[in-house]
Amino acid sequence: MNADLWVRGGTLVRPSGDERGDVLIRGGRIAAVGQVDAPTDIPQLDASGMLVFPGLIDPQVHFREPGLEHKEDLASGSLACVAGGITAFCEMPNTRPPTVDPQALADKLERAAGRCAADHAFFLGGTAENADQLGEWEHLPGCAGIKVFMGSSTGNLLIEDDATLERLLRSGSRRVTVHSEDNPRLSERYAALPEGASVLQHPDVRDVECALRATRRLLDLVEKTGRPVHILHVSTADELELIRERDLGDLVTVEVTPNHLFLAAPECYERHGTLAQMNPPVRGIEHQEALRLALREGPVTCIGSDHAPHTRLEKSRPYPQSPSGIPGTQTILPLLLSAVAEGWLDHASILRLCLEGPIKVYGIQGKGPLEVGCDGDVVLVDPTVREPLPLEWLESRAGFSPFVGTALAGWPSTTVLRGRIVYRDHRLLPPPSGRPLSFGGQAASQTS
Ligand code: DOR
Repeated sequence: MNADLWVRGGTLVRPSGDERGDVLIRGGRIAAVGQVDAPTDIPQLDASGMLVFPGLIDPQVHFREPGLEHKEDLASGSLACVAGGITAFCEMPNTRPPTVDPQALADKLERAAGRCAADHAFFLGGTAENADQLGEWEHLPGCAGIKVFMGSSTGNLLIEDDATLERLLRSGSRRVTVHSEDNPRLSERYAALPEGASVLQHPDVRDVECALRATRRLLDLVEKTGRPVHILHVSTADELELIRERDLGDLVTVEVTPNHLFLAAPECYERHGTLAQMNPPVRGIEHQEALRLALREGPVTCIGSDHAPHTRLEKSRPYPQSPSGIPGTQTILPLLLSAVAEGWLDHASILRLCLEGPIKVYGIQGKGPLEVGCDGDVVLVDPTVREPLPLEWLESRAGFSPFVGTALAGWPSTTVLRGRIVYRDHRLLPPPSGRPLSFGGQAASQTS
């Protein structure tokens, strides 16, 4: 559903800086920006007093469908996206069954059609069995790329040895997305965990060395094979230092999560218990500070929420049986706007990290800043709001966030997808009209 909309009189957030102006969307695409003169019969959206962001992209979410829909499904997860100003997402393969072949990918695309509120693409999970075929499958329509778990987390996807990982890296050409924790070390450390352990030990169980060791192994393989990789949820100052030192240029892109940027151990575990448990763990303040600095000075390419919902009941199991994962796609923008209010980030950096970064990493087509020709995805934010995050605002089935009660600045009030208002005043405006994303070098996907 492509529509016409004239967004009038807001403060446009653009890569070159904020400026007053309008956005004219015709047939779902941006047709004019700035001083706009359009026929008055075009539907209008009053943006006066509002910040006008382009729709943002969340390149890392876990929506649990098929198989674990009691935690989240494509409808509820994508609703959380548009409520938070995210108009496109890339979803991870650790569903049940896992997305490890073209049939499972086609099944997800079919489930998403008519039920997803945001544009979408799905990762294929790498395994020892499919490693040689992924080079062919990675170009399928609606495929965001290949995801590898080097360390085990939720689900059973895992490639823990270098020989299999090298075989996978040599099959295909798109950037491979990696959860980088060293599984042999993880196994040893979980085995040594005494009875009655506490979640406070989580950053020590999955310690800095687990992350560093896997990232070192991965960079060796990147150098050997020349295959580009994207390292998800980098959580340690040590890996950032290593990535800088190895200096592999565009072969290595880096993602961080808001959880690692806005929470710190031990305080987050003392306050939130297992609700703050995720893999890789939230670590001490020195890592948080290094990650914040790396947003501004490199090597961070993008921010992804790693939205990973589990129910409160599941989270209340004793550690380490409590599942790892924190929902977060809806709170990316409010958290980053709070960082702007605190003075350590600016609006242009939000565009770089939550739009240009994902576009560059995955070669996403059609999306972009408020510029003529890009999809007409727009998010209105009221910059005067500064309120504790209310639980009732959250759309995820998980029903919790460690940020509930935290005063956040700036709140998406209206989300527009290709010229149509899809979310306004805490309500989805049906029908859900998300479409598969398309990628550079890939056959165009169905867009009707
Ligand atoms: O904490 C996590 N939860 N990390 C992951 O890598 C997976 C995710 C999940 O799917 O629950």
